[in-house]
Amino acid sequence: MAEKIRVMLSEQEVDAKICEIGRQISEDYAGKQVHLVCVLKGGSFFMCELAKRITVPVSLDFMSVSSYGSETKSSGVVRIVKDLDEPLKDKHVIIIEDIVDSGRTLSYLMEMLRDRGPASLRLCTLLDKPDRRIVDVHVDYTGFQIPDEFVVGYGLDYDQKYRNLPYIGVVEFE
Ligand code: IMP
Ligand code: MG
Repeated sequence: MAEKIRVMLSEQEVDAKICEIGRQISEDYAGKQVHLVCVLKGGSFFMCELAKRITVPVSLDFMSVSSYGSETKSSGVVRIVKDLDEPLKDKHVIIIEDIVDSGRTLSYLMEMLRDRGPASLRLCTLLDKPDRRIVDVHVDYTGFQIPDEFVVGYGLDYDQKYRNLPYIGVVEFE
């Protein structure tokens, strides 16, 4: 089946928003060091761009998780596929995600990471689909709230494709 990608958020719009979030984080964490935790793979493009715009000292770590159950019906229990390299103890941690959808993955992940004793723990997501929320999760920094459409690009995939698009698009099937 052929797919077409319709642009939802242009490269310029996404770039401008990431600059804005970078400025906000630099302001909020003035005098501190931030520890960015990227949720692979989707969060990687956003984290790299964001990290470049943060002016306070930054350290980075990566983790990879998968939810138990089928792709379409996640149980909300998260399995760690790749854990962090560094402890979070006493660090100012910001989790960097591509998108918050049902909120299941993030609420579980936040609880788990909070137990590791960070000095502070916040959540930053490029995209948020509030209409899809099942589990309440507090998002500290949001790029864009978007309608309930399946999006790709900037790290987000459809069947592992389109992560490399420099904009956010909607997959349309012909
Ligand atoms: P949830 O918030 O636990 O439902 O899971 C969010 C995860 O589902 C994200 O990290 C993405 O990997 C994936 N996801 C949700 N919506 C989309 C979308 O529109 N495009 C691509 N992946 C999505
Ligand atoms: Mg993700």
